[in-house]
Amino acid sequence: MVASDQGGMQAVPRHVAVIMDGNGRWAERRALPRAAGHRAGARAVRATIEHALRRGIAALTLFAFSSENWQRPAEEVGLLMQLLLEALDREVAELGANGVRLHFAGDRSRLAPLLVERMDEAARRTAGGRQLDLLVAVAYGGRWDIVQAARTLAAAVAAGRIDPAGVDETTFAASLATAGRPEPDLFIRTGGERRISNFLLWDLAYTELWFSDTLWPDFDERIFDAAISDFASRQRRFGRTAAQVGRS
Ligand code: IPE
Ligand code: IPE
Ligand code: MG
Repeated sequence: MVASDQGGMQAVPRHVAVIMDGNGRWAERRALPRAAGHRAGARAVRATIEHALRRGIAALTLFAFSSENWQRPAEEVGLLMQLLLEALDREVAELGANGVRLHFAGDRSRLAPLLVERMDEAARRTAGGRQLDLLVAVAYGGRWDIVQAARTLAAAVAAGRIDPAGVDETTFAASLATAGRPEPDLFIRTGGERRISNFLLWDLAYTELWFSDTLWPDFDERIFDAAISDFASRQRRFGRTAAQVGRS
């Protein structure tokens, strides 16, 4: 199969974006506290990153905490933040050694200063990674990103730095927190729900969607490979006809 930006078949997605859902139900089924599900979920994150490296995926975006997740009980929010902090302390050195560039997208205004500091430090320490671009969406919402991009551009227009006519899809995309990476080729959501839940609203415009009933802590390389091989069977037409993009 031939990799192509213009449509047609592509064997391995360049960019995979994942909604890691189902930690709570995984725990509930085992009569464990939801916290146990989130801890098991963190282990699945590690395995997923390793498999993305093995498969030569260039970019991975993981949804760790949404704008709406702030509405969960304070205790659960606190635990999720604590797990993120612990994962950074534990994993950053190895990620860096494996050529992973780790960075974050989201509204930092409600995050603890210590966590923001560790996120910045992790990004600094892994900035040279060239094997895998790993973006973790924390306190992220697709609508938040679109609004902050609009605000950035509005300020630039008000300051006379750009002309309103200069605001187009390219400049807009460049103002998003997710800028500077190829758009996602493959979207994966575990946990059985068939919805976007305010994930990458702009970025997913032409992404191939793949849903699994597997709960996130059970996500493994076999299921990841099933998603990749389903992706490889799809013909991406980007509005063109099948004849235009060709069969392979
Ligand atoms: C995903 O698992 C993790 C986060 C949203 C932080 P959930 O916690 O949403 O698990 P379910 O959907 O309740 O099973
Ligand atoms: C989406 O999962 C957010 C993350 C996985 C971080 P949710 O469990 O919060 O989504 P909804 O509420 O079921 O749509
Ligand atoms: Mg959920």
